[in-house]
Amino acid sequence: MKIQTVKFSKSSTTFYFAYGISYLKEIIDVKQSIFLVDEIVLKQHQKRFKDRKVIPIKPGEKYKTQATVDAIIKQLIQLGTDRKTTLVGVGGGVVTDITGYVASIFMRGIKFGFVPTTILALVDASIGGKNGIDVGVYKNMMGTINQPSFILHDLVFLNTLPEIEWQNGFAEIIKHACIKDAEMFAELEANNLKKYQSNKTLLCNLIERNALLKTNVVIKDEFEKGDRKLLNFGHTFGHAIENTYKLSHGYAVAVGMVIACMISESFQNFKHTNRVVEVIKKYGLPVHQSYNAKKVIDVMKADKKKVKDVMNYVLLQKIGKAVVHPIAINEVENIIKQLESKF
Ligand SMILES: NC(=O)c1ccc[n+]([C@@H]2O[C@H](COP(=O)([O-])OP(=O)(O)OC[C@H]3O[C@@H](n4cnc5c(N)ncnc54)[C@H](O)[C@@H]3O)[C@@H](O)[C@H]2O)c1
Ligand SMILES: [Zn+2]
Repeated sequence: MKIQTVKFSKSSTTFYFAYGISYLKEIIDVKQSIFLVDEIVLKQHQKRFKDRKVIPIKPGEKYKTQATVDAIIKQLIQLGTDRKTTLVGVGGGVVTDITGYVASIFMRGIKFGFVPTTILALVDASIGGKNGIDVGVYKNMMGTINQPSFILHDLVFLNTLPEIEWQNGFAEIIKHACIKDAEMFAELEANNLKKYQSNKTLLCNLIERNALLKTNVVIKDEFEKGDRKLLNFGHTFGHAIENTYKLSHGYAVAVGMVIACMISESFQNFKHTNRVVEVIKKYGLPVHQSYNAKKVIDVMKADKKKVKDVMNYVLLQKIGKAVVHPIAINEVENIIKQLESKF
């Protein structure tokens, strides 16, 4: 158990690492709080929300929409929400993104915090202040940047987390290790998913370390001008195959990291693709996906992170050290075509 407050440009966030959700009563006035809870989490952990004002949120990305926001706002009004109300998002990244967004726009902004219940939300989505919703096929098209007041980690929720969600979350953990933390990478090499699932202390440490790693990257670059771009490692190619081949986000990012490692071999003289591949496999993630180069390139070109004719590709110099490397679009096209036959 550990409490740590971190300062962003306009506000601060307090982390409660390895606390029970019941500890919220020490942090906020729970009677004045409204809990936005993922419906599956609510069903599986009903007792933990006894005597709380709860708005259930339908699970999954397809509900990260304005329609859901409208429905929530209606309920907030019915529940008599005012400026003193705190919104608490309990769920994965979908719920934390929606909660942050609703709290930022409702009455021009009310207090909010998170209890993330997926590995991905614990180490990634709940951190950094980005929130928002999708508009049709456009992911995260609307949103704000606004930091939560608190993030409480209650790992008891993970007891019901499906295996695929563990794997998805570990893709981001491996990403963090690759770009920033060689020591953590070595720890991941020495362990495996089962070990983290059965050893709570080991898991707590890993999650805390990852949450702080992302926090530090964000603090240095809250508005995504530099270092924060490194968090896109594996995501350029990952995003391009995620929808086309109906892969989960973590699976797509895992394959994207392998491709980024292969590109790093040519541009950064990176020598450890095999180590990254082995770690990815260890955590139940794929290292391969056959793809159609033309389709992938078309999606990549439409990606909002593309700058004119050059792509800012995140590459590894070595394990734990990533760089943003501009590559001309036609060069990226050639590489993707070449790798299509190898892959
Ligand atoms: N804001 C950011 O900086 C940021 C960063 C990364 C991702 N995201 C967003 O996060 C979202 C993905 O988050 P996610 O992977 O957590 O997905 P998610 O919120 O959809 O949760 C995944 C699934 O797990 C279920 N679930 C959650 N906790 C559970 C538990 N403890 N037990 C049983 N089931 C549980 C949910 O019902 C859902 O079906 C995306 O919308 C993405 O855009 C945001
Ligand atoms: Zn991701």
